Amino acid sequence: SSSSFCSESRECLQFDLLCRTDEYEVRRSSCVYASIITSLEPMKRVSEFLNCPKCVCVCAGVRFEMTAPVLVEVPEEVKMWEPAIYTLSFLLPSAYQEHPPTPTNDKLYFSDMPDMDVYVRSYGGWMLSITSRLHAHLLSRALLRAHAHFNHTHHYTVGYDSPLKLLNRHNEVWYVVEGDPVCGEEHTPDTH
Ligand SMILES: *[C@@H]1O[C@H](CO)[C@@H](O)[C@H](O)[C@H]1NC(C)=O
Repeated sequence: SSSSFCSESRECLQFDLLCRTDEYEVRRSSCVYASIITSLEPMKRVSEFLNCPKCVCVCAGVRFEMTAPVLVEVPEEVKMWEPAIYTLSFLLPSAYQEHPPTPTNDKLYFSDMPDMDVYVRSYGGWMLSITSRLHAHLLSRALLRAHAHFNHTHHYTVGYDSPLKLLNRHNEVWYVVEGDPVCGEEHTPDTH
C-alpha cells in the first residue's frame, strides 16, 4: 500500500476513497480478516499484536508477517453486569486472501468483509480506550449532523502502529455505512 500511514507493516489494507469531508472519509474495501473474540482489554491485545514491527503471527498454524491495520470491534453500549466482548481482527496477508488456512484454534475464525463501506476519522498519538471512545463520539456526532446512516451497535478502533513508533502515529475509528454513503455535495470527488 502507498498510504503514508502504512509505515511499519509490509502489507496494509487497500481501499478506495469514495469521498471526504473536513470531518471524515468514506472508504470501501473487500478483505478477509482473521478474527478472535476476547473479553480482555483490547488495547493491550492490539499492542501485543503490533508489538514487533517485523513480527510474525502464528495463526491457524501458519506463520504470517504482520499486516496493518488491526481492528477491534467495540460494542457501543457496555452493560455493567456483563463483561464487554470485543472482536479483534487483523488483515490476512494477500497471499492468503483467496484461500485462508483452516484454523487450528477454535477461537479463531476468518471473516470475509466484502464491499465494506466505512466512515473513518483519523487521529494521532497513542490509542487508548478513552481517546478511541472520544473520537468515536466525535465521528458519530459529525455523521448525525450530515444525516449519514451508520450501524450504531458498534464501532471499530483501528491501529496501524506498534508501540515502538513514537512520532507520527496514526489511528482511526470506523463506523459501518448503512445505505448510501453520505459525504455532502462539495467534497465528492469529480468522477467525470
Ligand atoms: C449492525 O451490526 C450488528 C453487529 O455486527 C449486526 O448484528 C446488525 O445486523 C447490524 N445492523 C444492520 C442494520 O445491519
